[in-house]
Amino acid sequence: PQLREYNFEIKTATANPDGFTRQVYTINGHFPAPVIECNTGDTIRVHVKNSLDIPQTIHWHGISQNGTNIMDGVPGITQCPIPPGGSFTYEFPIIEQYGTYWYHSHFANTMADGIAGTFIIHSPGDKLKRGTDYDEERVLLIQDWMWDQSTDIVAALKSPEGYRGSLGAPKGDSILINNIGQTNCSSPNYPEGAECNPPRPAEIPVIVGKKTRFRIINTGAHSMLRVSIDQHEFEVAEVDTDPVFGPTIHEIPIAPAQRYSIIVDANQGKAGDKFWLRANVAAGCMDKVKQEGLAVFRYTNNNEQYDDGDETPDTQPWDDLAAFDSPCRDLDDQYTLTPRDPIDVFTKPLQTHALSSKFGTFLGMQGQNITGFAFNNISFQNQIWDPMLPHVIDSGNYSVDNVATVTFDCDGYVDLILNNLDGGIDHPYHLHGNEFQLIKRGDGSLTVEEAQAMDLSNITNPLRRDTIFIPGNAHAILRIRTDNPGVWALHCHIGWHLAVGKLATMIVRPDDIRTFDQPEDWKGLCAGQDPDEEGPA
Ligand code: C2O
Repeated sequence: PQLREYNFEIKTATANPDGFTRQVYTINGHFPAPVIECNTGDTIRVHVKNSLDIPQTIHWHGISQNGTNIMDGVPGITQCPIPPGGSFTYEFPIIEQYGTYWYHSHFANTMADGIAGTFIIHSPGDKLKRGTDYDEERVLLIQDWMWDQSTDIVAALKSPEGYRGSLGAPKGDSILINNIGQTNCSSPNYPEGAECNPPRPAEIPVIVGKKTRFRIINTGAHSMLRVSIDQHEFEVAEVDTDPVFGPTIHEIPIAPAQRYSIIVDANQGKAGDKFWLRANVAAGCMDKVKQEGLAVFRYTNNNEQYDDGDETPDTQPWDDLAAFDSPCRDLDDQYTLTPRDPIDVFTKPLQTHALSSKFGTFLGMQGQNITGFAFNNISFQNQIWDPMLPHVIDSGNYSVDNVATVTFDCDGYVDLILNNLDGGIDHPYHLHGNEFQLIKRGDGSLTVEEAQAMDLSNITNPLRRDTIFIPGNAHAILRIRTDNPGVWALHCHIGWHLAVGKLATMIVRPDDIRTFDQPEDWKGLCAGQDPDEEGPA
């Protein structure tokens, strides 16, 4: 095991990822942010200096943080944010986990300005093996992208007028693949007078005759994207961080924050050949507007570069791709995905709780009306300088009224029902700190009593993941092992929805959190700040 130490300075830069030049947020000036790569058992230490004029935190998406809940990076829940000019060191061991993770800002929706990076954990125990299952590996980052800064968009969404005339989350202005995209210069929203110089599409090299594992990460703030490669079918081999035996298909839907590994065989031609790789917006769950991201899937001998001037691939999409406005569904809702590392212990859950989310107008803590999203009728109001976790550590006092909370105080398996009560809006829900087993999906909503009356004990080898896409008017039951005491955020990973209150918390075994140490630099982040001040979700 090694200590992997990084210095991250969060600062501004200008970038032109899709043809429009704007201010972005970077880590050490890099866009995309640097890759973290380590082995199971290593310790990660990241010194973060915040050189922005707004606070920041970094969250390590999918990392269990077992015993290190204070490093989870959620302002108002697990820490005070790093103030402008301040620094904080995140340090945590990688226990047992391996696979495809990522990290991102968890302050407001500033991950949508560029603070999002790849985090890969290797392990000799990985059930997906280089040399056997695949030859090469590569990361593919896909996301929607805006021309405006996230802080301006969130401010508009919280105003009565909304953003571009709507209170709904905006669809992306363009789609980026490995941080390169093609803006539509004649869009009515294109900033007037601004230059428009879309770059050449991203090149995605593969080696002829080899099988490449693509670790695909949707780092976007809004859209589910459907990824396909002309003339290439692929095998689905990892879901979030879990190796699976999956289908061989033409197209894969990936919601924000989800990861999939696909294995693609470059057996359709010779070095220099090129095909379109497509990342199409699954518009059926949102704007019903067709939008396509494109990159060049390039055959090479050894990852060499090609320059064909303006010539682009002339390949055609598979003719069975989903229509852009067809319903959005998670992959497991369409195909069987069997974990390669089976779980064989199934028990009746010791406790069951429900979190039901919807859009609407809710009562705020000061008696004001808040229009946005809520869980169990509480829209998250972030006391960023008075986070929950220290209260739970100090006193076990965890009754708060600014965020919906469920508490599991038993040691064993529990069930969490997630009800999406929004009629026409689908959401990707992410649970921090815990991989859940997907026990059941269904239409409509479910009460705790209804779930308890079902026999949910004889399920074989359920899919595990950390981010699940639940359609409008539907529910899912997540089974969770309470072996990770902590205060864990659960939220919609559409960043614009999170920013208007769509966050709840799951407290696991509060009495075992009370023994946690509170390091001085962690406490120091809150020093001198006004605990009553409300910050962004
Ligand atoms: Cu990707 Cu709250 O996380």
